[in-house]
Amino acid sequence: MEYSSSVSPKITASAPGKLMLFGEHAVVYGRPCLVTAVDLRVSVTVELNTTGLLQISTPLLREQGEVRTVAFDALGSPYPPETAFVEAAIARVVRACGMPGGLSITTDGPRLSYGLGSSSAVTVATVAAFVAVLGVELGKRAMFELAYAAVLDAQGKGSGFDVASAVYGGTLYYVGGGTTIIPLEIEPPPLLIGYSGAKVSTRRFVDGVAQLHAQHTALIERIFDSMGAIADEARGLLGQGAWERLGELMDINQGLLDALGVNTPSLARLIYAAREAGALGAKLSGAGGGDCMYALAPEPARAAVEGAIREAGERVSFALGAEGVRIE
Ligand code: PMV
Repeated sequence: MEYSSSVSPKITASAPGKLMLFGEHAVVYGRPCLVTAVDLRVSVTVELNTTGLLQISTPLLREQGEVRTVAFDALGSPYPPETAFVEAAIARVVRACGMPGGLSITTDGPRLSYGLGSSSAVTVATVAAFVAVLGVELGKRAMFELAYAAVLDAQGKGSGFDVASAVYGGTLYYVGGGTTIIPLEIEPPPLLIGYSGAKVSTRRFVDGVAQLHAQHTALIERIFDSMGAIADEARGLLGQGAWERLGELMDINQGLLDALGVNTPSLARLIYAAREAGALGAKLSGAGGGDCMYALAPEPARAAVEGAIREAGERVSFALGAEGVRIE
């Protein structure tokens, strides 16, 4: 960590959301995954002041005409759900860099983020803006470590793939816990994203898989091994633009996710609709239980698959391979 003499009074940072391509759930158990950043950005403005307090304003709190105010030495677990990730990020930076005189924080982002990673994005943007205000320069790896620790403080579990995606952007090959983070030099594949409706919580599905893993350890380990092998092979196929085989891997991965019990009727409807309309493959993305699926749909089937997704759910459109965290 390097300290420069310049402290800025006010800085805004933004970070992207993410779409998990391959390897969800298995990545929690140390296997690799592939994730691409989506251009659904969350921005955080951090301003130094002399109140001695941390003041947080989020879109939801603003709607209710409220500002959350908390003393720095009162920051800690359990965090209030509305501001957990911001507070955990601030607490981690304070621990690493020292206590500021006072801070006012304003977050902004889309009202509905489709489960595409707003909590990791807000954590990363908070860390980036706060350290920038302090005049501290962090490399990507150090920023990942700080933000990942904050996410674990706030939510207790997680592989960190979403944090890495928010920091690095682009498309990443990522191994659970951040032991390996490799940015891939690839063009985004021709994907279409469908939204099936909100899910209860990622935590619930991660816990459900943990239970299954405890009951059928040897079997589920083999499923995770297969998912890891799929992510490894898909990494190469993405670079080659080998869509037919990549689509087959998507369908196999979807079957394995179904075996883990995280598929739902509305995700399945979207997935089958996309395949029937000519997609080369389709699978859910993330923890399952709701949120998004994606289909691989190069021309000439693109328009038909798009229509099928619209009919079976909601089509959402964001640029893929988006830029990682940046100072605005
Ligand atoms: O549902 P999402 O987008 O938060 O993704 C969760 C992915 C898991 O692999 C199930 C959990 C994790 O932390 O990697």
